[in-house]
Amino acid sequence: MPSFEVDQFVADCLAALAEDASHNAVREVVARAISNPMAVLKGLGEPKRAEIGTLLHSDHLTILNVVWAPNMTVMPHNHRMWAVIGIYTGREDNIFWRRVPGTPNKVEAVGAKALCEKDAVPLDVDLIHSVINPINQLTGAIHIYGGDFFRTERSEWDSLTLLENPSDGERVRRLFEEANTRFEADKLFPEERRSQTR
Ligand SMILES: [Fe+2]
Repeated sequence: MPSFEVDQFVADCLAALAEDASHNAVREVVARAISNPMAVLKGLGEPKRAEIGTLLHSDHLTILNVVWAPNMTVMPHNHRMWAVIGIYTGREDNIFWRRVPGTPNKVEAVGAKALCEKDAVPLDVDLIHSVINPINQLTGAIHIYGGDFFRTERSEWDSLTLLENPSDGERVRRLFEEANTRFEADKLFPEERRSQTR
């Protein structure tokens, strides 16, 4: 089985993008890599906490190693560029949304997709999704975006009202912080947490 080297993976993704500006060739690189999840885990390191790790940040391609905390949810948001998600450990449930006709700053759910280890799926440029880690352990996924993910104006939709706000990354950063606080507390006091939920 081939090993997973981050530098080689990034180079392969850049070569794929040079060959095909759509998500197709990049998705194939991701699918090939995560077909051996153990190698990816070894190459990236075992996930320890919820985080967004940057493997590449450039104008035309952003590659992230995203680790979701157990049972963590991220509100609906868009990317305004194509994306590829590849799961190398755990699970990710995606809910897909669209703007409500006549009320364009509000979204309504239109579909869902359950992603498992070894799944590598493309997301369209104009897609709106929310993400749930539905399991009681960390989920690790490679997220690749066909542009500068951090410097592109994006939107997110409030989980309560489903109304649109500009995304500055701050709410998502807080979500990761809160998720890690819960995750750490759960590790320290598992019995207490369990009895609270009884
Ligand atoms: Fe996303």
